[in-house]
Amino acid sequence: ISAAKGGYKHFMQKEIFEQPRTTTDTLRGRVDIEHGRVTLEGLALSEEQLAQIEQIHAVACGTAWHACLVLKYFVESLARTPVEVDYASEFRYRSPVLRPNSLLLALTQSGETVDTLAAMAEARQQGIPTLGILNAIGSQASRLADGGVIYIHAGPEIAVASTKVFTGMLMAGYLLALQIAQAKGILTPAQMQTHLQSLIELPGKISLLLKDTSLYDHLAEQYHHVTDMLFLGRWVNAPIALEGALKMKEISYIHAEGYPAGEMKHGPIALIDERMPVVCIATRDPVYEKMLSNIEQVRARGGRVIALINPEDTQIREKADHIIEVPSTTPLLSSILNTIPLQLFSYAMALRRGADVDQPRNLAKSVTVE
Ligand code: G6P
Repeated sequence: ISAAKGGYKHFMQKEIFEQPRTTTDTLRGRVDIEHGRVTLEGLALSEEQLAQIEQIHAVACGTAWHACLVLKYFVESLARTPVEVDYASEFRYRSPVLRPNSLLLALTQSGETVDTLAAMAEARQQGIPTLGILNAIGSQASRLADGGVIYIHAGPEIAVASTKVFTGMLMAGYLLALQIAQAKGILTPAQMQTHLQSLIELPGKISLLLKDTSLYDHLAEQYHHVTDMLFLGRWVNAPIALEGALKMKEISYIHAEGYPAGEMKHGPIALIDERMPVVCIATRDPVYEKMLSNIEQVRARGGRVIALINPEDTQIREKADHIIEVPSTTPLLSSILNTIPLQLFSYAMALRRGADVDQPRNLAKSVTVE
């Protein structure tokens, strides 16, 4: 087992550190920078069929569901195609209305999650094609995906808490958004080139985020006794806040809530006091100023702010109790980079609390029964 961990203490830690490579592998052979084109080899739908898609339904469970939420921003921004996101367990029982020219997108690492498989079966029954964004090869989901499969190629993920698969799903989701935009003629080859260039720069930026992780040990030293935490983000980073909170509760057993920051005033603000660390995702994007005022509101109530910012930031740097620097990228792709510090923080907290990082209590890697 310790050999399988390749010198790392836990599989989760190993899988976090594999991300520069796994995100590269998701892109491999699919990106043609020179011509500004994307080719997802596993699609069973032609460019003409892709061009006709009017609605996407994205379904998944757990961390993969958060990936669906991010993918909605990617596809709606880049390919101007509406995306509805459902928990697979809700979708299957709500008699979903699936119009012609829609597509079901199923995100699942294992390809064996029972609710996600049932959602795929529902789409098939209604005559709607299903496309899978999958990791494990040869799963049940791969057989049900009549619209094709995009493998993320992250390799086996052993830790129960998903890390490298989440970022892999986002990379694949971005490629899919570009592929649909290309099919619909929404982006010119030159615009595609710009997007692809930003995408291929991500693995190197992930490496930078993994260089020195001592900050997370310091944060864990200071905060490991807390009972509650709040994670806030807006726009494409709102789902990243949800994922940060999920990771924290899964492995450290600290009660953590993720919220779109704009909703803070409609509830969570009542909980904020000096015992409540608030992780704020505040890298540069169109809603930066809004995040800034959310941070001021947290501070005014005594909350401790741990902020994710870009290196060139000056405004939030002064206001936060702690800052985590994240390399700059495009606003949409910031979601992928911002994920990494939140993984490292939850890992450090779990470690400091002596929790069983790879096998958290009551959780399973894949939920194959209802
Ligand atoms: C379980 C795992 C999660 C995972 C979810 C969906 O809850 O603990 O890490 O995100 O299942 O799994 P899937 O294999 O469908 O991606």
